Amino acid sequence: VETGVSVVKLGSNIGARIDGVRLGGDLSPEAVAEIRAALLANKVIFFRGQDHLDDDGQLAFGGLLGEVTLAHPTVRGVQNPNILPIDSEYGKANSWHTDVTFVDRVPAVSILRAVHLPPYGGNTVWANTVAAYESLPLSLKALVDGLWAVHTNSYDYAANIDELRIGGVDVKTEQYRKEFQSDLYETEHPVVRVHPETGERSLLLGHFVKRLIGVTSTESQALFQLLQQRVTRLENTVRWQWQHGDVAIWDNRATQHYAIADYDDQARRLHRITLAGDVPVSIDG
Ligand code: SIN
Repeated sequence: VETGVSVVKLGSNIGARIDGVRLGGDLSPEAVAEIRAALLANKVIFFRGQDHLDDDGQLAFGGLLGEVTLAHPTVRGVQNPNILPIDSEYGKANSWHTDVTFVDRVPAVSILRAVHLPPYGGNTVWANTVAAYESLPLSLKALVDGLWAVHTNSYDYAANIDELRIGGVDVKTEQYRKEFQSDLYETEHPVVRVHPETGERSLLLGHFVKRLIGVTSTESQALFQLLQQRVTRLENTVRWQWQHGDVAIWDNRATQHYAIADYDDQARRLHRITLAGDVPVSIDG
């Protein structure tokens, strides 16, 4: 079957733009299969010109790709619990993370749609956590293969200076933080996880990590920084300049991302939906 789906790679390690698709709940199984394959291969994929899509269309498309689940364990979207508004009004998540790693079943896939964009800035950057693991020398692989980390949503907001400086600790940001931390989660995950679909090994870290288990807090911080630096090396990333009508889909089991807070106090809003994932499995099974 000719689907019209065309995949344009954006770099050697991560990212592809998908052309020839009108996203929605009526895509053929063949087109969905090609989109899934492009996602697994490229970790994050981008679609331009999807201006026709609204929340319902985004959810209907998501349902073809996986099991749409609560958009967030603690933050409730106003209209629909399956839609998480990422709104500059509530502060800026400008630090590297994988979405919602503080629960047992980490979301598999996130689908993000531009709703309102600032006239400049506000790009998002994604990094490939599989390539990061694979790029480690054998000695460092041996070090991290058996390592586990504690993830929590009770992380230190104040540690993120940009968020305080640019977002300001205003009433809405504070309200959002309270809602974000209204239920506290803490869970342990392997630092090296095996992807349930591709079998690839990746580094599961990001800003919800509180500490690495079995080492001192000083060693934990140093090791965390060392591994995060591997993840966020520029060659390991792709940067997307949002346009109205854009949709990004990332494999949350193989990426981290960072929303750049460089648009002053202008409004920026995107809607995110979440596809359910599995409990991360270590290389020991
Ligand atoms: C997110 O963390 O899912 C939001 C990314 C963005 O705002 O670009």
